[in-house]
Amino acid sequence: MNRGTPERRIVLTGFMCAGKTTVAHALAARLRSTMLDTDALIVERTGRTVEAIIREDGEPRFRQLEQAALRDALENRDGARVIALGGGAWAIAENRAFVNAHYCLTVWLDATFELCWQRIAADSHDARPLARNRDAARQLYEARRAHYAEADLRVRVGADEGADSIALRIISALTEWPPSSKD
Ligand code: S3P
Repeated sequence: MNRGTPERRIVLTGFMCAGKTTVAHALAARLRSTMLDTDALIVERTGRTVEAIIREDGEPRFRQLEQAALRDALENRDGARVIALGGGAWAIAENRAFVNAHYCLTVWLDATFELCWQRIAADSHDARPLARNRDAARQLYEARRAHYAEADLRVRVGADEGADSIALRIISALTEWPPSSKD
């Protein structure tokens, strides 16, 4: 990458099952770096699954752990160029401010609700307790879009495109970053 993005870290956001973790792996491989996933960090730090934490301790406790994982990722693990957030992390103003204060480039993987829901429903039962049915998932999806739109870059993703191809599109967009004012 050139211009404004030589070593900036890239943070991927977007709704559940938009492909953040998979694309983060592909992006990190293309950048010859490594990736972190805040959900995976929580599992690593607690030895419990995200769904168990939400179900047994409640969402507020999960959000505390998520914030701690995000701080850990940004403050202590700066070898990783790519960070995949859980779908709710970017909806919290304090987390957005924290990511921005670390001068990260943020990318919104924008998938349609139908695509996300198809994948959520196909995943193991109750893997995502906050999207326990279609209506609950839809409400969250709509409520969060305005926050996702605050990311630096919006990348529309469909069902048919592979993670590597999406990663290449992100790299190409960021190579031209920041867009000139006429864009
Ligand atoms: C959540 C998304 C999940 C996980 C948790 C809560 C959310 O991550 O962090 O179940 O609030 O959107 P993915 O976006 O990776 O599914």
